[in-house]
Amino acid sequence: MKILIVGDGGRESALAMKLKDDPRITKMYFANGNATTDVLGKNIYQTEIIQLRDYAIKEQIDLTIVGPEAPLVGGIVDEFNNHGLRVFGPKARAARLEGSKAFSKKFMQTYDIKTAKAVVFDSYPEASEYLKTQDYPLVVKASGLAGGKGVVICEDHEEAEATIYDFMIRRIYGDAGIQVVVEEYLQGFEASIIAFSNGEKLFPCIPVKDYKKVGNGDRGANTGGMGSAAPSPQFRADHMDDFQKNILEPTIRGLKAENLQFKGFIFFGLMVTKKGCYLLEYNMRLGDPETQCIMALLENNLVDVISNCLDGKDIDLKFNDEKAVCLVMCSGGYPRTIETGFEIKGLDKAKNSQILFAGAALRGDKIVTTGGRVLNLVATGATFDEARKKVYADALPIQFDYGFYREDIGKF
Ligand code: AMP
Ligand code: GLY
Repeated sequence: MKILIVGDGGRESALAMKLKDDPRITKMYFANGNATTDVLGKNIYQTEIIQLRDYAIKEQIDLTIVGPEAPLVGGIVDEFNNHGLRVFGPKARAARLEGSKAFSKKFMQTYDIKTAKAVVFDSYPEASEYLKTQDYPLVVKASGLAGGKGVVICEDHEEAEATIYDFMIRRIYGDAGIQVVVEEYLQGFEASIIAFSNGEKLFPCIPVKDYKKVGNGDRGANTGGMGSAAPSPQFRADHMDDFQKNILEPTIRGLKAENLQFKGFIFFGLMVTKKGCYLLEYNMRLGDPETQCIMALLENNLVDVISNCLDGKDIDLKFNDEKAVCLVMCSGGYPRTIETGFEIKGLDKAKNSQILFAGAALRGDKIVTTGGRVLNLVATGATFDEARKKVYADALPIQFDYGFYREDIGKF
């Protein structure tokens, strides 16, 4: 069996690690991959959907798994399906649930999915008038994909007005800002739940905590994720019941009613307040760095569960009862301007956790930084404390210029 994984982050490295010992897999290909996938398989440097399709045909790839959102929104699954290629992910129509926040908010409202109150605007003057009448803080979101930067929590009217001006008039994120969603600010803790879809039913994984802010104690700018821990101890059984009843089940009904059913992953970004779970967003893919903890605890064979979903069969997900912690080591400046090309040293001294590379590549016999999130350290243990100690012990000897990481991953 030949497998193609699209993406180049820590998430894709975690998939590669999970798959590497499956005796049915003869070869793994990664587009574009990183220093982990370069060792476990073959990195191919192609990003265009059509090129990837032709490559998959030529190499007779048996299964493709798509990591990032951009190719999904761009229709990679439609293109692969049209050529009889087996691929796990939503078609472009369903990927719009991630690609357009205006579309997903309307979907949530239509199908009574518990979410923050919000209004969608495509006219700047109307949005501007509305902002004058609101209480603050208030959340302003660019509807389209903006690399995780299109959400601003506005403390006052002035900031909200400046934000819609940036999004809708200056178009700092291009077409992503043609529409905006203006949303009630919710206070609570966040949780990520990723589910497998078999085209009809959704099978949720354990809840994961993603540490989104760059600084210790959840301070500073939002990032793609500075670490993760699972299963989230904050997310109790009553939260899970609330999620199932008021978010998961109406989502299944909505997908069916809109003919958006798909075989792939769906990610629920939740805010848990005193009034229970609210859905902030759907991502139509695996989360990064949530996947790293999920793969560390998932007991099922990944090819089996994906193949069963693709065949429309039910699956029974099993997770071992350990705790998992994933620490992300970053380039100085992340999530803003970074410099890359620095050698990563001390890797051989890390003995307690799994090293998953993300923004790092092999250059001869060296491994150098190539991105903002450079590598992940993943460990499991009977307690979060045990898992935490392992990743932090390994982070110490690993050095690259200007590198940094949060000190409080796995603390709650
Ligand atoms: P989103 O891409 O919609 O998930 O938003 C990115 C991040 O912004 C979330 O992970 C939250 O930290 C924050 N956020 C989004 N919507 C809200 C909201 N309604 N209230 C408070 N924080 C929010
Ligand atoms: N960690 C959140 C995401 O993958 O979007």
